[in-house]
Amino acid sequence: MQPADVLPLTQIPDALGRPLRDLRISLTDRCNFRCTYCMPRERFGSEHAFLPRSHLLRFEEIERLGRLFAELGVRKLRLTGGEPLLRRDLETLIAKLARIPGITDISLTTNGSLLGAKRAKALADSGLGRITVSLDAIDDGVFQRINDVRFPVAPVLRAVEHAQAAGLGPVKINVVVQRGVNDDQIEPLAAHFRGTGCILRFIEYMDVGTTNGWRLDEVVPAAEIVERIHARWPLEAVAPNYPGETANRWRFADGTGEIGVIASVTQPFCGGCTRARLSAEGQLFTCLFGSRGHDLRALLRDGRSDDTIRETLHGIWGARADRYSEQRSSETTGDAKVEMSYIGG
Ligand code: GTP
Ligand code: 5AD
Ligand code: SF4
Ligand code: SF4
Repeated sequence: MQPADVLPLTQIPDALGRPLRDLRISLTDRCNFRCTYCMPRERFGSEHAFLPRSHLLRFEEIERLGRLFAELGVRKLRLTGGEPLLRRDLETLIAKLARIPGITDISLTTNGSLLGAKRAKALADSGLGRITVSLDAIDDGVFQRINDVRFPVAPVLRAVEHAQAAGLGPVKINVVVQRGVNDDQIEPLAAHFRGTGCILRFIEYMDVGTTNGWRLDEVVPAAEIVERIHARWPLEAVAPNYPGETANRWRFADGTGEIGVIASVTQPFCGGCTRARLSAEGQLFTCLFGSRGHDLRALLRDGRSDDTIRETLHGIWGARADRYSEQRSSETTGDAKVEMSYIGG
């Protein structure tokens, strides 16, 4: 990977002064899980129309956009889905992205179900830096009930070990906490991952999309999660790794590692949000809760020049004033919002 200083550090402030630093790239809207809070079966059943293959950005198109975004200040890339490991030959794309000057961090968010030892090694060899595994429960019954495809927890726990063995660390474990669904898993997950080098991150359940029927009373506030863990294993606050980090960090006082809480409902972090999101079909969203994207695929396929596309991106980011989480009230707004499985979280 190239050092960041190969490119001058471009700063394009948005309308609220926030620079563009991260690009999250969704590689597919498909997933082999049907997590009840993300792709409920009633809405993502056999009738659901997923994106046809010809609509997906090709690797060369993603690479080109990655390069243009890097020229505008992006340093971090995160590959998401749906489930990104469903995208064939992903390693070829990662190798292309890893060669882009300016990109210093490439990570991937996966459900871990398709991550064997060989695949983890191949991903690391291609230039992937880190992996985050979504894992909402350690109890097999709870885990299977949430993924709703009866996928057992054991292979996902092995996937975490494969990622660590391949050097794709620190491996982060993302847990979306829903009251009455998996909040009894908080302490068992902490007990399991303490001392393993993995960073557990508890995420407040959010009102993304329109299909999951979100209610505020299902949110377990991050402060409550921290209190519960602290009561068993004392915690100490840790400073953020970088400005605008999603997670508030805490370390176990006994030196067995750290956890994070992502409090986007009770303590929104829009003020430092430097993240743009690209859907698998090339729609650019400037907020996770956006209802409309900007069609970058059309620009690519209409044969527009690098200069034209760069100017367009500059214009879109410069006009950005999104701060959904800070504006959210106790009721989720009725506007159509993009689905998490489409935009990748
Ligand atoms: P690191 O680079 O390791 O710090 O990862 P990250 O926390 O930026 O990315 P990750 O995909 O692990 O984010 C974890 C979760 O935080 C996501 O699944 C979302 O639920 C939430 N999240 C991430 N970015 C945003 C954001 O911009 N807004 C909101 N509201 N939530 C976000
Ligand atoms: N609230 C919070 N996080 C969510 N994710 C999916 N849906 C939600 C939601 N409603 C998380 C997944 C995964 C990432 C892609 O987004 O658990 O870690
Ligand atoms: Fe579950 Fe992630 Fe798939 Fe959504 S994208 S159904 S959260 S595994
Ligand atoms: Fe960024 Fe939108 Fe999330 Fe706020 S709600 S942190 S603006 S993506």
